[in-house]
Amino acid sequence: MTQTLTILGLESSCDDTAAAVVRWSDQSAPEILSSIVADQTAIHANFGGVVPEIAARAHTEKMDYCVEAALQKADVDFSDIDAIAVTAGPGLIGGVISGTMCAKGLSAGTGLPLIGVNHLAGHALTPRMTDQLSFPYLILLISGGHCQFLIVNSETDFVRLGGTIDDAPGEAFDKTARLLGLTQPGGPAVEQAAKAGHPDRFAFPRPLLDRPGCDMSFSGLKTALLRQRDALVAQNGGISAEDRADLCAGFQSAVSDVLSEKSRRALDEYLQAQPSEPAFAVAGGVAANTAIRDALRTLAENLGVKFVAPPLHLCTDNAAMIAWAGIERYRAGLVDDLSLSARPRWPLDTQSASMLGSGKKGPKA
Ligand code: KG4
Ligand code: ZN
Repeated sequence: MTQTLTILGLESSCDDTAAAVVRWSDQSAPEILSSIVADQTAIHANFGGVVPEIAARAHTEKMDYCVEAALQKADVDFSDIDAIAVTAGPGLIGGVISGTMCAKGLSAGTGLPLIGVNHLAGHALTPRMTDQLSFPYLILLISGGHCQFLIVNSETDFVRLGGTIDDAPGEAFDKTARLLGLTQPGGPAVEQAAKAGHPDRFAFPRPLLDRPGCDMSFSGLKTALLRQRDALVAQNGGISAEDRADLCAGFQSAVSDVLSEKSRRALDEYLQAQPSEPAFAVAGGVAANTAIRDALRTLAENLGVKFVAPPLHLCTDNAAMIAWAGIERYRAGLVDDLSLSARPRWPLDTQSASMLGSGKKGPKA
């Protein structure tokens, strides 16, 4: 007899209110029956970043609507759902509380089991939903709020090999765009401008490459860019389209070089355990960058490692990844109860030293 599991997922740890229904079966690939994302970009636009209190209030207003839409789109009701999974951290605490309270209410009202999911585990387990990767695989999370290498050994066993010690790469792209008068989010704008540029005209550092290990740093690149820009302004009274393109190309090439070299080291470490089906996945908004993605794909393929980049709408914040991580936990017998707490910080790898700092979108964990 076919075994299936259908889980409702809720996500509200940053500035996206999301609900989704995902179905697992032992006969076929997982199916995303619905994935609703209500983003809050417009309400934070005037503040230059996410305002936690405003985000939390918006989550509370929107979550039940998102849940209703997710059930409707999936053409299911609560009698078809096996459990409710919710992001219980890490993230902006008001938003996380809003999501967990909603999930607890639904669980209490329906009698369905409640599963607390780590938001980062949601990102890290996504390639198993999209590409059925088997454990262990290596994943690089690169977005506006995340930057870390993880070896995923099981649905609960994550080993962090390294991460940023300051800005996440997406943050660096966004700041670069701001410094050059380009639109937000900065990544796509910088990538577009870089297409016409010469990466070698301006010198950009490759931070931390001289140090062993997989930790990274991106804040110095933005400072280097600021200096180059100010020198051009002092010399010529402003910057031309050509200057802007060359600065973007130089910056992007530096980010790509750092990510490639650190990925090479992370892959070396990962391959030491001789995984039977070696795979390297990238996730997060920065993985949308063609130059970076191509560099990482080439690196992996040259080492005989399968390269996986889930579709962008599943790399950025969404609730399908939370529902999927809930499925993984439920299958492993990991279910919570109404005492589930919301956690602002929740490192995936409890053995490694926790990372410092906070991204523009909240704690980096
Ligand atoms: O994963 P994401 O949507 O949200 C979180 O940060 O959680 O990532 C957004 C980040 C932004 O900083 C954006 O500038 C960056 O990803 N990004 C890119 C590109 N597209 C989005 N960075 C570089 N190149 C791109 N094409
Ligand atoms: Zn995220």
